[in-house]
Amino acid sequence: MILVTQPAAGPLLGELLPPGDKSISHRALIFASLAQGQSRIRGLLDSEDVQATASACRQLGMTDRFEGDERIVEGVGERGLQPPAAPLDMGNSGTAMRLLAGVLAAQPFDSELTGDASLSRRPMTRIVAPLGQMGARIETSANGTPPLKISGRSDLRGIDYESPIASAQVKSCLLLAGLYASGHTSVREPLRSRNHTELMLPAFGVPLVGDCGVKGGSHLAGTSLRVPADISSAAFFLVAGALVPGSDVLLRDVGLNETRDGIVHVLQSMGADLAIRNRRRFGGEAVGDIRIRYAGLLKGVDIPPELVPSLIDELPVILALAAASQGTTRLRGAAELRVKESDRLAVMARGLETLGVGLREYPDGMDVEGGPVKGGRVDGAGDHRCAMSFCVLGQVASAAVSVAGCENIDTSYPRFVDDLKSVGGAIGPDGSGDHRG
Ligand code: S3P
Repeated sequence: MILVTQPAAGPLLGELLPPGDKSISHRALIFASLAQGQSRIRGLLDSEDVQATASACRQLGMTDRFEGDERIVEGVGERGLQPPAAPLDMGNSGTAMRLLAGVLAAQPFDSELTGDASLSRRPMTRIVAPLGQMGARIETSANGTPPLKISGRSDLRGIDYESPIASAQVKSCLLLAGLYASGHTSVREPLRSRNHTELMLPAFGVPLVGDCGVKGGSHLAGTSLRVPADISSAAFFLVAGALVPGSDVLLRDVGLNETRDGIVHVLQSMGADLAIRNRRRFGGEAVGDIRIRYAGLLKGVDIPPELVPSLIDELPVILALAAASQGTTRLRGAAELRVKESDRLAVMARGLETLGVGLREYPDGMDVEGGPVKGGRVDGAGDHRCAMSFCVLGQVASAAVSVAGCENIDTSYPRFVDDLKSVGGAIGPDGSGDHRG
């Protein structure tokens, strides 16, 4: 799908409630399915990625229904899952596949996890190897990619795993398997990745052992949760608001978990006018309303490598932001971007170059020279975050930007185009003539 943007005709103005947090939504559905009794979840993201998790959970025996704005999930208990009748299709979602693999490795039945072309290229050895140390049996393709053929085992052993990468998917996969393993399972990582699993387990009645560990045989009990709006989706409007002259946009109920708020720090260090008010918590998760106001041209910055896990999914839009700022922005320590839904460093580099942006690509990052951005045709390569990043940059390009490969925006942010138009952005499908907000 192709989207075409025009240079924004005026400031972006208004208020938005971005969609529910994707990471928290996956976890809420999986934990509620494993819990004994009913869970009530408000603000769950309804996007293709989360639908893949919901559908897999249903095939494993969970039932759910809507009541007003709440999703009511009837859990089956950790030991109540039923063997799925067919392979479980995780679509585009690495989180869905890696988290569910941890659960399925410990079941008394076999299962298979498959995904779309993008997911079928993504590395799974990062979970298969430590799960193997726990006694799990999982087959991948020869190069360690999906499908995952899981021979369920009832005799997993807990481990203390020192992960070579900061990955919340690896950590969460192992903690889920650890709920079924003998003894304790704990995970250490080089830098702290998002901690939604650690915050949510106690809400389901599972105490953490240390900072990041569980005891085998712990039970989950149904609970009520409220999902914050996703800072990774809000990010597109934070950047658009910071770039389009005169803008003033309020984003409500945005998750501000400190393991996810790196983009706030980067925007502030670049000189953006960003104010957070109404700080509160939804359960263990910090939340606030963020107001972003245009404050003139922003300055390029060095992004400290230790900040990378806290803004990993926002890096495509941060690279777009850097392109329309003044001076050089340097990113390093972000090799993980090469194994996301696409090779995000390559996809962003090719698109930015097409729009006349000076840059230098490195194996683990990029230097971006800020300056004027031209119009042109770029390719989001079927990666939702790259596609939306180019659409945002298009608001400040000197001419139309046509973005191919936008179909997967629905994996995380189905209302993106409508939301951008609602604040005055200029975007529409190719050939629609509908570009004005
Ligand atoms: C996620 C963790 C991150 C992130 C992904 C969602 C999660 O991936 O990029 O979009 O929900 O646990 P990694 O764990 O691979 O770093």
